[in-house]
Amino acid sequence: MVPEGLDPWGTVKIKDYDRLVSVFGIQSFRPLKIELARRGLPLSLHMRRDLIFGHRDLDRVMAALERGEKVAVLTGFMPSGRFHFGHKLTVDQLIYYQQELGMKVFVALADAEAYAVRRIPRKKAVEIALNEYVASMIALGLDPEKTEFYFQTNRGTPYYRLMQLFSGKVTTSEFEAVYGDINPAKVVASLTQAADILHVQLDEYGGYKWVIVPVGADQDPHIRLTRDLADRLSGEVELNKPAATYHKLIRGLDGGKMSSSRPDFTLFLSDEPSLARRKLMAALTGGRATAEEQRRLGGVPEKCTVYDLYLFGLVKSDQELRKLYDDCRSGRMLCGQCKRIAWGLLEELLRDFQERLVQARELAWKVVDIPRF
Ligand code: TRP
Ligand code: SF4
Repeated sequence: MVPEGLDPWGTVKIKDYDRLVSVFGIQSFRPLKIELARRGLPLSLHMRRDLIFGHRDLDRVMAALERGEKVAVLTGFMPSGRFHFGHKLTVDQLIYYQQELGMKVFVALADAEAYAVRRIPRKKAVEIALNEYVASMIALGLDPEKTEFYFQTNRGTPYYRLMQLFSGKVTTSEFEAVYGDINPAKVVASLTQAADILHVQLDEYGGYKWVIVPVGADQDPHIRLTRDLADRLSGEVELNKPAATYHKLIRGLDGGKMSSSRPDFTLFLSDEPSLARRKLMAALTGGRATAEEQRRLGGVPEKCTVYDLYLFGLVKSDQELRKLYDDCRSGRMLCGQCKRIAWGLLEELLRDFQERLVQARELAWKVVDIPRF
């Protein structure tokens, strides 16, 4: 039996998510989710499981979609490090919008940002962007024929014209709010990201007036700045405010941050299966000190990084997820057994993905225009 008030969607409790909703004016996703389901729209796994916890103006864009207007979804990745399960979360959402709702997808490869903010050499950024990010997205099932991947440093004049116009409409203290302490590199990166989000509204890029930007909550300062810039350009360039959705961030296998800079606690999709297995077996769980205690009290999936993997998509069926949750809480299932189940699923995912990755890497270099220097 599941105790009152607990549910399999309720994990990854970070108080800050509530704070973002209450303090920064992000709208809570739950009421909209109910409304969208009522209107018969298919919900993504991340929506159903409350991994999307907030949004700005998604209701307006969905209404436009229902009126038959064209809608695009756009996000961006900084080509630094390797593609891991945190990135997969965003890509799965892009695939949902592409396959289920027929939206146009744009992906910004943020090589300008990687160069300016992370000091990644230009050539290296291009290689990482294609071999790691674009290839992984294709291997996961994003259709390269219906997706426009582009390098920031390779975009055309109208995109750069927007950046120049933005520069006259923003103050130093607004940049500080986005980046803490600022320098020219961060200012440029910030304006570049605003251009990413807004330029697809221009006729030159398809005239997509309705745009959804799925991001982690850490990107909200950029979204706020971009939405303000859209307003401030009124009279010169007519731009709609973009919509955004905010997802929770998957934790690393020790309960800390999942990040390329912490490889021991981060599952990369290109990990050698034997290595991935070792990481998984060492993962922090919500298990008790002894088997006896766990049978008596049950485990705590909310604390468990293995459960996080299930929740974030390793288990696709909501029913199966619910069963794992109940079996953990009731003490029927112990962590050793549970990790074997997780490994079975993970191994299949990795093998399938890595098989596709070989071809996807070749394709990646063909479907994206490569900056000349
Ligand atoms: N700044 C983002 C990151 O650090 C990457 C990014 C660049 C982006 N352009 C974007 C994200 C446009 C969303 C929309 O990951
Ligand atoms: Fe985590 Fe599974 Fe252990 Fe529950 S039984 S705490 S879900 S590893």
